[in-house]
Amino acid sequence: MDGCRWLVTGGCGFIGAALIGELLRRDPDVCVRVLDDLSVGKPGAIGLDGSDAATPEDVASGGWAPGIRLARGDIRDAAACRAACEGADVIVHLAANTGVAPSVADPMMDCLTNVVGTLNMLEAARSGGVPRFVMASSGAPAGEVTPPIHEEMAPRPVSPYGASKLAGEGYCSAYARTFGIDTVALRFGNVYGPGSGHKTSVVAQFCGAVIEGRPVRIFGAGTQTRDFIYLGDLLDALFAAAETPDIGGEIFQIASAKETTVNELADAFAAVVESRGHAVVGIEREPPRQGDVLRNFSDTRKARERLGWTPRTSLEDGLARTFDWFVAHAD
Ligand SMILES: NC(=O)c1ccc[n+]([C@@H]2O[C@H](COP(=O)([O-])OP(=O)(O)OC[C@H]3O[C@@H](n4cnc5c(N)ncnc54)[C@H](O)[C@@H]3O)[C@@H](O)[C@H]2O)c1
Repeated sequence: MDGCRWLVTGGCGFIGAALIGELLRRDPDVCVRVLDDLSVGKPGAIGLDGSDAATPEDVASGGWAPGIRLARGDIRDAAACRAACEGADVIVHLAANTGVAPSVADPMMDCLTNVVGTLNMLEAARSGGVPRFVMASSGAPAGEVTPPIHEEMAPRPVSPYGASKLAGEGYCSAYARTFGIDTVALRFGNVYGPGSGHKTSVVAQFCGAVIEGRPVRIFGAGTQTRDFIYLGDLLDALFAAAETPDIGGEIFQIASAKETTVNELADAFAAVVESRGHAVVGIEREPPRQGDVLRNFSDTRKARERLGWTPRTSLEDGLARTFDWFVAHAD
């Protein structure tokens, strides 16, 4: 994909910044535009400072050039999306409300960002003639089903977040079948890795707690299961989704295909931390959270067969790399 023009929404966030780092590593002359409202992500995550941010219209008027251009804009703003997308070859759509809890607290906010924002981006892809659109979805659309989750299961979202991601998947399907855009929805497992310092997901929360000498927090009995996928493996899947031919309109489960209870995660994490001379000082147990499902892990055969993708990183290695990053970036 040499010479490819990439638009990454949410590019200053956890996954977006890692994707951009990898794009630059693969091709130092790559052309990348980032559309991010900087509500969560920071320009520093992609090696820029605030003064590098311009309006999407200003970025568009400068045309495409090697390097990273940051368009500060909101995906709920259709005009900003249109300006940012024009002339792109691939859109990787990561900007979103990313959490179950905020979606429970404010379902309308979640809908406007994840449903209307995604529709704005698809419309911008259509008007800008962008051939490929990769959307970040999640296991949440599947909801309360008996795992392993696979692409053919009837979805039953539990949280508003699951519902809004499911709507995004629905629009991706429609834009592939009606308008011929090669949309690909990737249902990420629970992603962890370096650069997740601002995240409230369980691995990031565990790492932050150990660094600050606080107990780690577990919601419910800790018997709930999740499918933890290391960031580097997820990036491989994003590249495969951007580059593989004949997958327009498809959905893929992108996860480790392993079911891990939060208690098992805590044990594996404690071992990693101890091997590095740190310690988990205790466990604080809190009531289960509304909207959280009990069991979640994926069947990833479709991704292996159609994308040629398999995860390579063990939980222990991934936890070690993540914890080392937190230690290196502790204040
Ligand atoms: N991290 C995970 O475990 C995980 C799991 C499943 C799915 N996902 C999905 O992957 C994507 C990226 O997640 P992440 O972990 O990198 O999150 P993140 O919060 O680190 O990054 C999201 C980025 O989007 C930006 N953003 C938010 N609202 C915006 C808006 N209205 N307009 C423009 N930009 C906006 C934020 O400033 C931030 O930089 C999201 O779509 C998320 O739902 C993540």
